[in-house]
Amino acid sequence: MVFCILLSLFSLFTSAISSSVFVSAFSPVNDFHVLVSLKQGFLSPEPALTSWNSSNPSSVCSWAGVLCSQDRVVSLDLTDLDLGGSVSAQVSRLDMLTYLSLAGNNFRGGIEVANLSSLQSLNISHNQFTGGLDWNYSTLSNLQVFDA
Ligand SMILES: *[C@@H]1O[C@H](CO)[C@@H](O)[C@H](O)[C@H]1NC(C)=O
Ligand SMILES: *[C@@H]1O[C@H](CO)[C@@H](O)[C@H](O)[C@H]1NC(C)=O
Ligand SMILES: *[C@@H]1O[C@H](CO)[C@@H](O)[C@H](O)[C@H]1NC(C)=O
Ligand SMILES: *[C@@H]1O[C@H](CO)[C@@H](O)[C@H](O)[C@H]1NC(C)=O
Repeated sequence: MVFCILLSLFSLFTSAISSSVFVSAFSPVNDFHVLVSLKQGFLSPEPALTSWNSSNPSSVCSWAGVLCSQDRVVSLDLTDLDLGGSVSAQVSRLDMLTYLSLAGNNFRGGIEVANLSSLQSLNISHNQFTGGLDWNYSTLSNLQVFDA
């Protein structure tokens, strides 16, 4: 069963954004470490994610499903890759993401997305996630499309 929620939260939460406080903690190297830890949680990541070479941090922006802007990961599209396993809470550290799709895989367990103030589109549908969607949406202040 799929439901699609369209959210227009601009005016509600714009004032809650205070990204500058945390900027120094995040960097391209941070994005690399987050993606490596995500891959570690996935079952059978090969061959889809062979390009995710954990020995080569500078290659992140050419990894499958990854798009960068100014050396930061802004889009992660893992749609329909037949990936299993779980999605690490680390995903919420990809602080420049505007687009995230995990749709059409076999991910299990719980998932929580938070603290991504640039995220506009999130698709986690067509998986086997369990647990609620009782997240703190005020930390997703730009979310416009959410398909779970
Ligand atoms: C991963 O990157 C390292 C360092 O650049 C390189 O030596 C190695 O061949 C790469 N592995 C694959 C599978 O591309
Ligand atoms: C989310 O992904 C599913 C599976 O690929 C797709 O059918 C659906 O249209 C997507 N939802 C949105 C809002 O794009
Ligand atoms: C979001 O940020 C708050 C404050 O830094 C932190 O306590 C919380 O664990 C974060 N949530 C996630 C899902 O990472
Ligand atoms: C949700 O996040 C906002 C903004 O970071 C924070 O002020 C609030 O305390 C959080 N609410 C809960 C229930 O954690």
